[in-house]
Amino acid sequence: MEILRSIVVLIHLIGFATLFGAWLVEAIGRRRITRLMHWGITIALVAGLALAAPWGIDHELNYVKITIKLVVVVVIGALLGIGAARERKTGSVPPGVFWPIGLLTLLNAGLAVIW
Ligand code: HEM
Repeated sequence: MEILRSIVVLIHLIGFATLFGAWLVEAIGRRRITRLMHWGITIALVAGLALAAPWGIDHELNYVKITIKLVVVVVIGALLGIGAARERKTGSVPPGVFWPIGLLTLLNAGLAVIW
């Protein structure tokens, strides 16, 4: 059970790495919303929800932290949707939509490891 949970944590981290890595590439590039970002957030969300259930651990989960991470992910998802739609209409993603995607992703990773 513990090994299975560790594997799900690894998948969760792959989702984070995919989302943040795809965003970083675009941050120094053309600042678009890419399909890889959508894949990354989906993987992180599904694995995160699986980890939100208390299995394979002998400590309490911090549900305040988990709820905040979930809210942050919903905001990131909304920004990805808004950004992709604006890109289709105008050809570019507004800076006020593009930059918070990476910053909120980092915030969630920070909440996970520091709190
Ligand atoms: C972009 C979004 C997210 C990022 C960057 C992120 C980042 C991380 C990281 C880096 C860890 C490993 C922490 C450690 O083992 O010390 C982690 C663990 C975890 N995350 Fe996330 N996360 C995200 C979204 C979510 C969501 C949406 C949920 C649940 C609704 C969630 C629930 C969890 C749980 C339950 C753990 C394991 C805690 C434990 O077993 O002690 N995460 N996350």
